[in-house]
Amino acid sequence: MEEKLRISDRVKQIQKSAIHEMTRLSKQFTDVAFLSWAKPTAGTPEHINRAAIEAIQQGLTGGYSPSDGLVELRREIVKKLKRDNNINANISQLLVTVGAIEGLASAVMAIVDPGDEVILPTPTYSTHIQQVVLASGEPVLVPLIEDRGFSLDISTIREAITPKTKAIMYCNPNNPTGTVFPEEQLRQLAEIARERNLMIITDEAYEYFVYDDNKHFCIASLPGMEKNVITCFTFTKTYAMTGWRVGYLHAHEELIAQIKKAHIPFSICAPVVSQYAALAALTGPQDCVADFRDHYLAARNLMCERLDRLNPVFAYRKPAGSYLMFPKILLETGKDSTTFCKTLLKEIKVSTTPGIAFGSTGESHLRLSFCVSEDMINKAFDRMEAYF
Ligand SMILES: Cc1ncc(COP(=O)(O)O)c(C=O)c1O
Repeated sequence: MEEKLRISDRVKQIQKSAIHEMTRLSKQFTDVAFLSWAKPTAGTPEHINRAAIEAIQQGLTGGYSPSDGLVELRREIVKKLKRDNNINANISQLLVTVGAIEGLASAVMAIVDPGDEVILPTPTYSTHIQQVVLASGEPVLVPLIEDRGFSLDISTIREAITPKTKAIMYCNPNNPTGTVFPEEQLRQLAEIARERNLMIITDEAYEYFVYDDNKHFCIASLPGMEKNVITCFTFTKTYAMTGWRVGYLHAHEELIAQIKKAHIPFSICAPVVSQYAALAALTGPQDCVADFRDHYLAARNLMCERLDRLNPVFAYRKPAGSYLMFPKILLETGKDSTTFCKTLLKEIKVSTTPGIAFGSTGESHLRLSFCVSEDMINKAFDRMEAYF
């Protein structure tokens, strides 16, 4: 009898990540112009590295921390939430997590029962969709309105609610579109959540990378939402700390107690050395964050200028936040974004991410990251201009 691997249906449903697939394919070529990763290319600031080394030298990092995170780190997070997010928290409303990702996964596990529906405005970060599937939930994809700068479609979200709907999950600023959802729309979403007793699970990974007159607004700062919102934050983007794997989650303390039941079997606690690094990030100089933002803003403007010159090929919305943009491919050959991206890689060694990776509404688009050097952007666009 043929032996089959005994894999769960829940894992079998998950497709290979298009982002990792493009990375794998890119490795077959040399001199690739890489616009496919949402990973800061700058290194972690030196004062953060030094603090981690000191913590190791002092013998502070070899054991577990409390599963909800070092108390001194949570105290600093409380100050940050008050200062930058208008959220009044105490340390028992915080959970330090293994990046935003583990916080999101633990939150979804704590909220979603098999068959529960989770509404995701899309295109969205594909990991969110996978997290819902891993919890045996049903992702319900509600398109963002592209003609209005990929804004939330509040009335369609309302219509998508059924007795099985448990939560609405989004990232703000959004990956891949770079939309910053305005306060007014988030107030409407909050009203829906309260009326229908739904959970809002938000991912605020790009909170500091917001441009022009746009403002980042946390739905958790609205009164009356305490038991309806779980907000996930991270050090990954703000301080270029991708590999440290440290983030945190804010929620009502009754929710934290439940989310911790998922967090512990996934991770026990976030890496302790990284928690000391995160502490240094919060207590140290903040000009690195402003420097990153200035760099991304300049890179966004350059990418927009270069896209303008490719006008008949792409149509785009200037992203208000994040370091990502999501142009629509206007060519007939762009209808299948995966083939389009693979062709760009093969023909001109430009690596991008197919829009289909962010939900079916992302088809005919590609995601471009501008968290790279201006030289990299110019190299990619020089090649695309010559090619098209
Ligand atoms: C929207 C969003 N959330 C979360 C993450 C990952 O965050 P972390 O490294 O904190 O797990 C990413 C990374 O690209 C992202 O784009």
